[in-house]
Formats: sequence, structure tokens, C-alpha cells
Amino acid sequence: MFLFEKTTYISRREKLKKSVGEGVLLFLGNNESSCNYPNNQYLFRQDSTFLYYFGLDKPDLAAIIDLETGEETIFGDDVDIDDIIWMGPQPLLRDEAARVGVAHTQPLSKLEDCLKAAVAKGRKVHFLPPYRDHNKIMLHKMLGIPFEELKQAASLDFILGVVSQRLIKEPCEIEQIERACDLGYAMHYTAMQMMKPGMVEQELVGVMEGVCIGGGYMTSFATILSQHGETLHNHNHDGILTDGKLCVIDAGAEIASHYASDFTRTWPCGGKFTQKQKDVYTIVSTANNFALDMARPGITYKDVHLGASKIILQGLSNLGLIHGDIDEMCAAGVQGLFMPHGLGHNMGLDVHDMEDLGENNVGYGPGQERAKQLGLGSLRMARLLEPGQVITDEPGIYFIPALIEKWKKEGTNAQYINFGKLEAYYDFGGIRLEDDVLITEKGARLLGTKRLPITVEEVEEAMKNN
Ligand code: GLY
Ligand code: MN
Ligand code: MN
Repeated sequence: MFLFEKTTYISRREKLKKSVGEGVLLFLGNNESSCNYPNNQYLFRQDSTFLYYFGLDKPDLAAIIDLETGEETIFGDDVDIDDIIWMGPQPLLRDEAARVGVAHTQPLSKLEDCLKAAVAKGRKVHFLPPYRDHNKIMLHKMLGIPFEELKQAASLDFILGVVSQRLIKEPCEIEQIERACDLGYAMHYTAMQMMKPGMVEQELVGVMEGVCIGGGYMTSFATILSQHGETLHNHNHDGILTDGKLCVIDAGAEIASHYASDFTRTWPCGGKFTQKQKDVYTIVSTANNFALDMARPGITYKDVHLGASKIILQGLSNLGLIHGDIDEMCAAGVQGLFMPHGLGHNMGLDVHDMEDLGENNVGYGPGQERAKQLGLGSLRMARLLEPGQVITDEPGIYFIPALIEKWKKEGTNAQYINFGKLEAYYDFGGIRLEDDVLITEKGARLLGTKRLPITVEEVEEAMKNN
């Protein structure tokens, strides 16, 4: 089991205790989750907040922190002889708890009594929004809250306390994210070197996931690999790679410590871009580099998103696909037709870090409201940038025939868009280029030892022997 130094967990919990007022903090770990029959289980994944504060990477654990006494307790059960037959001997929970600086342990069956006693004394039990049914059932049973009210009843003070800590990565976390990035690099680079017209997309998915599992724990999300890059999250991998087509690959690694990476590249299946592809690709790579240059403490990622959007609008205008004043088009949201998603999200123990705590709680700071516009409305990270944040930089341009036709029919932003010219792009697909970025004291830097090829020249050079 991967663990940071004991003092890391102790100091994280001490900081949290100071940021949430009174009552009891309840942390629910995850349990095993069945796939197609009870004993056939998905790979176990611990809850990320539990990992952050308690480190223990095992099912069926919970913890509480009493904010008045400061006492910390981990709840869980030691194995019995029946478990030992199937699982082998396991360390005692009290020894595991001591490794992360927790002095008290209790059987899991005592958790309910403990919480009920706190409630009976009129104390608030703070919990985070549950996302797994098992934990919803546990909360419902222990606290008597109806299922449909659990999300609403979650503690905003607890959520914001956790978010403020997990948003700013410690040096030991950045080291882990760099490792996840290096494994993500290996996944993508291996696929790039192997891809050839005639291969089925799924073969490449298998190769990438093999590299990932061999060097880490699992992929950080379901791999996206498709020549239909215009479908943003395309999990269909049955296409045959065809010379002249582009293949979008959006994939990342989760390593044993559970830190994630998330990269996207768009490779030409036959190793060479057509001129038309180069033109659009270069706009996206320019937007990606622009965002990396612009990102720095003191400005918001929403402004970086808008800056990258203007690069995209200028590029599409140069190609004659739209026309008009760039600022005016940006304010009207013309870019949403071509990039109907946000520029990026926080990344850490979750690839979309802390999404379970609420996208707006994580990605929007005080006074920031989420826009409704297509594209900007999907921006997961809009916050003021601060050193230690880890975010993705993932602009894209997509030609989605159904969306273009809808805008044309409804006349949306019709004064700016050359719908006739766009018809020649209906079979183009899409392009996305994603890097992982650390906000530093003065600016931003890429994470990972090496950057995946990104310029047209670098890509064609790296694929020249395919
Ligand atoms: N994994 C999808 C994304 O890049 O956010
Ligand atoms: Mn991605
Ligand atoms: Mn991403």
C-alpha cells in the first residue's frame, strides 16, 4: 500500500480541523463493488478524500474526527480465519491506523452507535456528498436522512474545507502527479509509434491500457480513442484506422498512489497531416500554447479559457469559416459551436479532481458564477489561479454536423458563421490537444518529464517510421 509520511496525514487533518467549525466529521471509505455477480468485483478504488486524510487503501473503512476533542477514529474490521483462507494474513487495523498517525480504532459496527450518540447530543455530523449507492444506504441508515435529500444535506463547510486543501497540491503530491504523467506519456507515445492504417482502434486501446496497468494501477478514466473525434467522449473503438483520417486519443494513467494524468493528442492515422488538417491542428496547438503562457497566479482560468477561445476564433476567421470582430464573436459565444467544452479542470487524486464535491464548489471561487453559454458553461475550472494548482489545458476544434445544422436552422450567431463553407468540414472529425499544467509562483509549467509531440513537425517526425 502506498503511503506518504505519517506527518503528511496528521498535518492535513490538523488543518482541516481548524477550517470546519463544530461537530463531527464523517469520512466514508469505499467498499468493493460487484460487477456481474456478488463475488466478481471491479478493481477496488478507495474514496479520494479518504485517501487524502487517512491514506488507507482498503475497502470497508470509515473515520470520524471529533472537532471538539480533536479525537480521530478509524472504523473497520480485522480479518478472521475465513478471510485469511482467501486473502492471506492481513495487518491489524490498529497497526495500519498508527502508520497514518491515528490512535483510535473501532469495529465498523460501532460507527452507527457513535454517530447516533453525537446526533442525540444535538451535534452536527458533517458528511460529504455520497456518490456510491452503498454509502448512500449507510448514511440513510445511520442518520435517517431520505436518499433524495442526502446531497443537499451534505456539509458545505466540510466540502469547502476539503476543497481548499486539495486544490493546492503539496510537493509530495506533485511528485506523484509527475509520475502519473510519465506513465501517461508512455501510453500515448507507445500508441503513436504503433498506429497504422488497417488496425482496429480497440487494438490501440488495449496496448495503451496494457502500458498503463503494467506501470501503474488503472487508467484514470475510460480511454477515448476514435477517428470520430467530433464526438467529445467517444468510447466506441470499433473503427479501422484509415489513412487520411485523424485519431483523437484522450487517455491517462492512475498510479499506485492514485494520482492521475490526462493527455489528449490527435494523430494522423497514416503519419502525415493533409493541408486542411494542418490548418485546423495549428489553431488548436496555438491555443494550447497560448493558454500555457497566459496561465499564472492572479488571473482566472475563465479568462484563460476566453483567451484561448479568441485564438480559435481568429484561426477560424483566417480560414474563412467565420467572420466578424473577434471580441464581439467571443462575447456572443461563437466559439461554442467549435469547442463546446471548457478549457480544463483540476486534476489530482481524481482526474476531474473532487468532482464528487460539486463542480462549482471546486472550480468556481467566491463571486464567480457559471455561465450558461455553450462551451463556457461546461468550464469546470474558472477560479483565480494560485501556485500549486494542477489543471488541464485542453482546447479543441470539432465539426459536429448535427450542432452546425441546428445553429443554421435556428439562426444562432448566423451573422458571424459561413455555414456554406462549413459543409466541407462535415467529415473532418475533431482535434483536441491536452496537457497537464502546474501553476507556479510566477507562471505555469507542464507536468511530466517529456512533452508529447505537439507541433505538426514533431508529430510527423515521430511517426515517420510507422
Ligand atoms: N477525460 C476527459 C477530459 O479530458 O476531461
Ligand atoms: Mn482528457
Ligand atoms: Mn481533461
